[in-house]
Amino acid sequence: MNEKFTLCWNDLPGAPENGCLLARLDDIVDGGARLLSLGSGAASFGVILLRSGDSVLAYVNRCAHFGVPLASKVEHLYLKPHESLTCSVHYARYRWQDGACIKGDCEGEFLLKIPVTVIDGNIVIACKSN
Ligand code: FES
Repeated sequence: MNEKFTLCWNDLPGAPENGCLLARLDDIVDGGARLLSLGSGAASFGVILLRSGDSVLAYVNRCAHFGVPLASKVEHLYLKPHESLTCSVHYARYRWQDGACIKGDCEGEFLLKIPVTVIDGNIVIACKSN
């Protein structure tokens, strides 16, 4: 049997709980990003927030290529606003909207998407179960 294990964002250590406040929408410029590090040490959980207008997408800051952060500082995360983001390590490029790797060594793989919503200007985790 050859089943492929599919990793989910909340399988990782330090994954935030449903309803966890991540940031304020106003903290991110339209077409911009914010990097968060939740927790500390081995249980630290990195998040990338991407804003498009009044909506926000969130991905685990974990490259599909080597499983390391795409960037440790937001200025090292190469953005093409509303279109793509590029890993600072070996430059894999991911599509903004769905986290698919569209160029690089992990082409066809995906960033781990985190369900979020914006409530009263607050960006919060919004999963059905956690
Ligand atoms: S670790 Fe991101 S492209 Fe290699």
